[in-house]
Amino acid sequence: MTATVQVAPDGEPLASGHAFPAGFVWGAATAAYQIEGAAHDDGRGPSIWDTFSRTPGRVYAGHTGDVACDHYHRYADDVALMADLGLAAYRYSIAWPRIQPDGTGPVNPRGLDFYDRLTDELLGRGIDPVVTLYHWDLPQTLQDRGGWTVRATAEAFADYAAIVHAKLGDRVSTWTTLNEPWCSAYLGYASGQHAPGIQDPASAFRAVHHLLLGHGLAARALRAAGARSVSITLNPAAVFPLDPANPADAAAARIVDGLQNRIFLDPLLRGSYPDDMREHMTRFTDLSHVRDGDEAIIQAPIDVLGVNFYTPAYVSAQPGTPAAPEYPGTEGVAFRPPVGPVTDIGWQVEPAALTRLLDRLHTDYGVPLLITENGAAYPEGPAADGEVHDAARIDYLDGHLRACLDALAHGVDLRGYFAWSLLDNFEWAEGYQMRFGLVHVDYTTQKRVLKDSAKWYREVIRRHGLTGRARIGA
Ligand code: FCB
Repeated sequence: MTATVQVAPDGEPLASGHAFPAGFVWGAATAAYQIEGAAHDDGRGPSIWDTFSRTPGRVYAGHTGDVACDHYHRYADDVALMADLGLAAYRYSIAWPRIQPDGTGPVNPRGLDFYDRLTDELLGRGIDPVVTLYHWDLPQTLQDRGGWTVRATAEAFADYAAIVHAKLGDRVSTWTTLNEPWCSAYLGYASGQHAPGIQDPASAFRAVHHLLLGHGLAARALRAAGARSVSITLNPAAVFPLDPANPADAAAARIVDGLQNRIFLDPLLRGSYPDDMREHMTRFTDLSHVRDGDEAIIQAPIDVLGVNFYTPAYVSAQPGTPAAPEYPGTEGVAFRPPVGPVTDIGWQVEPAALTRLLDRLHTDYGVPLLITENGAAYPEGPAADGEVHDAARIDYLDGHLRACLDALAHGVDLRGYFAWSLLDNFEWAEGYQMRFGLVHVDYTTQKRVLKDSAKWYREVIRRHGLTGRARIGA
């Protein structure tokens, strides 16, 4: 057998198997509320995260997104940073309350203009804009009318999608409807860790359905308006039974898999809720909100599935364990505390779990995949030399990119990788204490400093492949 030596664009040899397929897209991701700031500028209305972050005790140290990274005013400099890194694509979200301050009705042209300028800036730098329409900042007025527990919100979302497409559709080719509806539904309405902070499982399951319906209606509207690529981003669980040989552990893993994966993936890609999840939901709600024909709407064709991945979960059957609030109905299911290396936010580092997840999504659902988020929180700031030495983040990213290569070698149709995040930012209930950025942000001066990981990522992009580093955590 003759060994093939793969060569980076600059002619440097790459260790065999360390290169990515031609056309594999390199990107970075952010979300509006986490970076924009300018919470009261140019007619933006309040969102559920403005309300939530102002409610005492909800967000670490009372942090809010009022200023964040001030990206609203500094977007041109931030796009220059992206160009410096060599990003081929940038995933950003549109703030619905900038576009329709009340969620429905009058459009605010100044809000649309911001995304118009940002999109042009990206294109001017040769960076492909990848738009997410909903990354959790629901207009507060819609929440006051029931939020995602009511059908009208799904309908309003489709109208809003059409409005944004009418402005940007001539330049944006990839449209993502929702980011991580699992978080919106279960963290927002069951555990209450996220806005709007409700703790009611019945509301969470109604939210699951109306988010999915909103996706389907928006996907249809986008397609009718000529969108070339339509997608949704999930945070599918890489969930494993602690003891795969123990049927009770396998059953525990199946419930979590149902609540986080199949309850979304099956209606999206197979046209119906799985039977066990229908039954599970009826423990909490009569499902009268699921109308005939809804599942067909939800199954609107998608071109690619966005996958956000950070950490795996291991579960076992342990009678007497109370249900985890964000997984309603999981009495008797125990989540193993993280083992081995963890990031600053306490999430276990296990790249091989990403390969297993991608393999599974490919086998069970056969849809093209895109990693729309992957990254790690580590605390490093500028050292005495002014640089940010975040070796652990490099290890994390390197390990997960190797995990992507393994999945590609298994035949998974993986189209690209977006690092979370371009910038340190407002990490939801954790406030600014958790830093996920490739670029360090000093929140007092708004100064940006490329971390070592950003320079490493730039090199990966330039080579379109990895160098010969050791695996971690696999
Ligand atoms: C994901 C969110 C993203 C960010 C990362 C760390 O769940 O989509 O906004 O907070 O986690």
